[in-house]
Amino acid sequence: MVIQLHGFLLLLLLLLLAAVAQAQQAVAPTTKTDPIEAAALNAVFAKLGQTADSSWNTSGDPCTGSATVGTDIDSNNNDVNPGIKCDCSDRNNTLCHITKLKIYDKDAAGQIPEELRNLTRLTHLNLSKNLLEGPMPSFIGELTDMQQITFGINNLSGPIPKELGNLANLISLSFGSNNFNGSLPPELGNLAKLEQLVGHAAENKSSSKTGVVVGVVVGATVIGLAALAAVFVWSQKRRKLSLEQQELYSIVGRPNVFSYGELRSATENFSSSNLLGEGGYGSVYKSSTYLSLLGGGDSEGKDSRREMRFRLRLSQLHGSLLLLLRLLLLAAVAQGQQQQAPTTTTDPTEAAALNAVFAKLGQTAHSSWNISGDPCTGSATDATDIDSNNNVNPGIKCDCSARNNTLCHITKL
Ligand SMILES: *[C@@H]1O[C@H](CO)[C@@H](O)[C@H](O)[C@H]1NC(C)=O
Ligand SMILES: *[C@@H]1O[C@H](CO)[C@@H](O)[C@H](O)[C@H]1NC(C)=O
Ligand SMILES: *[C@@H]1O[C@H](CO)[C@@H](O)[C@H](O)[C@H]1NC(C)=O
Ligand SMILES: *[C@@H]1O[C@H](CO)[C@@H](O)[C@H](O)[C@H]1NC(C)=O
Ligand SMILES: *[C@@H]1O[C@H](CO)[C@@H](O)[C@H](O)[C@H]1NC(C)=O
Ligand SMILES: *[C@@H]1O[C@H](CO)[C@@H](O)[C@H](O)[C@H]1NC(C)=O
Repeated sequence: MVIQLHGFLLLLLLLLLAAVAQAQQAVAPTTKTDPIEAAALNAVFAKLGQTADSSWNTSGDPCTGSATVGTDIDSNNNDVNPGIKCDCSDRNNTLCHITKLKIYDKDAAGQIPEELRNLTRLTHLNLSKNLLEGPMPSFIGELTDMQQITFGINNLSGPIPKELGNLANLISLSFGSNNFNGSLPPELGNLAKLEQLVGHAAENKSSSKTGVVVGVVVGATVIGLAALAAVFVWSQKRRKLSLEQQELYSIVGRPNVFSYGELRSATENFSSSNLLGEGGYGSVYKSSTYLSLLGGGDSEGKDSRREMRFRLRLSQLHGSLLLLLRLLLLAAVAQGQQQQAPTTTTDPTEAAALNAVFAKLGQTAHSSWNISGDPCTGSATDATDIDSNNNVNPGIKCDCSARNNTLCHITKL
C-alpha cells in the first residue's frame, strides 16, 4: 500500500516534470535581435544617456515587448519613448532588425553617435527636440532603407551632407530649428520619393518656432498645376515652343531644390503669417507666395549658377502664368460685363453724404469699390467683410434690396 502510493507520487512527479519541460519549450525565445544592431542600440543609448522604456527592456533582447507588438511609435503617441520597433520576419521569423528608433524630447545631448551607422535597417528615425550638437554625419546616407528622418529642434551645425541624396526611399526629411549653414545640396533633388522637406532656420532657435518648412508637396503641386496650365496655354497659342516645355517638365521633375535664400523669400522670411502649423520637427510654413521664389531672394549660396538657371526657368513659367491669368481675367471680365449691367444705384442723398464725409476727413474711396461712379459697387456689395479684416479700409457696405433690388443704402462705414 505504501509502495503503491509512493509509485503514484513518482508518476505524478514525472508528469509534472514533462509538463514543465514542454512549457519551457513553448515559451523559449524564438526570435533574436541581430547582435550587431543590439550592440549598436545599446551604444547609442549609452552615449545619449537614455534607458530603454520598460515595455521593451534591453536587459535581455531589445526586440521584445512593445518593440514587436502593439503601439506604433510613429504618430504623436508618446507612450513608448524612447522607443524602437523591430521587424522579426527575417530568416523564417527568427531574426529581428530594428526598423524604427525614436528619442523625442528626452534631453539627448552630444553628437549623433557613430554607432547609429550599424542600425542599417532603420526606416524611421526621430531624434527631434533634443540637445544634439555637432555635424549631421554623412553616414546617414548609407542607411538606404530610411523613409522618414527628423533631427528637428536640436543644435546641430555645419552643412547638410550631400550623401542624404542617396536615400532613395526617403519620403520625409526634417532638420528645421538647428544651426545648419550653407546651401542645400543639389543632391537632394535625387530624392524622387520625397514629399516633405523641413528645412533650415538659423534665427532664434530658443523659441523653437522659427523652423523653416517648405511644403514641398504643396509647392510641387502648385508648380505642377501651374506648369500644366502654362503648357496648355502655350500649345494653344503656338506649338513651336517645345523646347521651353521641356524646361518646364524639368522643373516639375525636380521641384524640391531650393537654396536657403529662396526658401527664405518663399516664406517671406519665415513670416508667421505663412505658418501652417508646428510639429515635433519645428514649424511648417506654406510657400504660399510661391511666385516670390521668382523675385529677389538673397543669393547667398555658392551655387548661384544653378540658382540662376532655376530662376530663369521659373521666370519663364512666370511669363506664361501671367499670360494665363490675363486670359482668364479677360474672359471673366467679358462674362461679367455681359451678365451684370448695373441695375442698382445708391440712394443719392446717402452717396452725397458719403462723399462729403470723405472730403472733410481727407479720405478717398478704396479702389475695390471706387466711387467715381456709384459708391455701392464692388467690395461694397460683394462678400468682402469689412468688420473683421482690414483689407478694405476705408470701407463701406451697402444693402441693395430696397425697391426690388434696385436701390442701395449704405449700412456700414
Ligand atoms: C525583459 O528581458 C527579460 C530577460 O530577457 C525578460 O525576462 C522579460 O520578460 C523582458 N521584459 C519585457 C517587458 O519584455
Ligand atoms: C517624432 O515624435 C514625436 C513624438 O511622438 C511626434 O510628435 C512627431 O510627429 C515625430 N516626428 C516625425 C517626423 O515623425
Ligand atoms: C524556412 O522554412 C522553410 C520551411 O518551413 C525551409 O524550407 C527553409 O529552408 C527555411 N529557411 C531558412 C533560412 O531557415
Ligand atoms: C558596427 O558593427 C561592426 C561589426 O560588424 C563593428 O566592428 C563596428 O565596430 C560597429 N561600428 C560601430 C561604429 O559601432
Ligand atoms: C549650440 O552649439 C554652439 C556651437 O555650435 C554653441 O556655441 C551653443 O552654445 C549651443 N547652444 C545651445 C543652446 O546649446
Ligand atoms: C558654416 O559655419 C562654420 C563654423 O561653424 C564655418 O566654418 C563655415 O564657413 C560656415 N559655412 C558656410 C557656408 O557659411
